[in-house]
Amino acid sequence: MPPLSSGLTIATWSELADRTPTYALVAGVDLVVIRYGDEVSVLYGRCLHRGSLLADGSIRGDDLVCGVHGWDYRVETGVSAYANDEALQKFTAWVDTDADAVMVDEGEIATWKREMADLTAVAFAGAAGRQET
Ligand code: FES
Repeated sequence: MPPLSSGLTIATWSELADRTPTYALVAGVDLVVIRYGDEVSVLYGRCLHRGSLLADGSIRGDDLVCGVHGWDYRVETGVSAYANDEALQKFTAWVDTDADAVMVDEGEIATWKREMADLTAVAFAGAAGRQET
């Protein structure tokens, strides 16, 4: 279901190949867009192992597989089938069939990016504090 705020088009639905990872960039965040049948999944687009672009990966069964070392993530959820504690952020996405567009909530993605930056800053501050004592 689309959110109340207006969406941002990130792909043309009719041109999105089935089960083919596709790159998008929103609010400075790399994304991977995957059409599977009549559904679409939009996930954080960097592998949690070493940060490779997942749009360069492939689909194997229900999994998005990183092309570098083979880490896998469920297309529908972003959760790794191999290690369930590894999960890509899944963003709200929907298909506007009238506009032939895949849409996301840009505000949601920008907020997630800010939250990740804050967590990183806290982690660095914590590490610096430990070094000083
Ligand atoms: S960078 Fe993706 S599996 Fe290593």
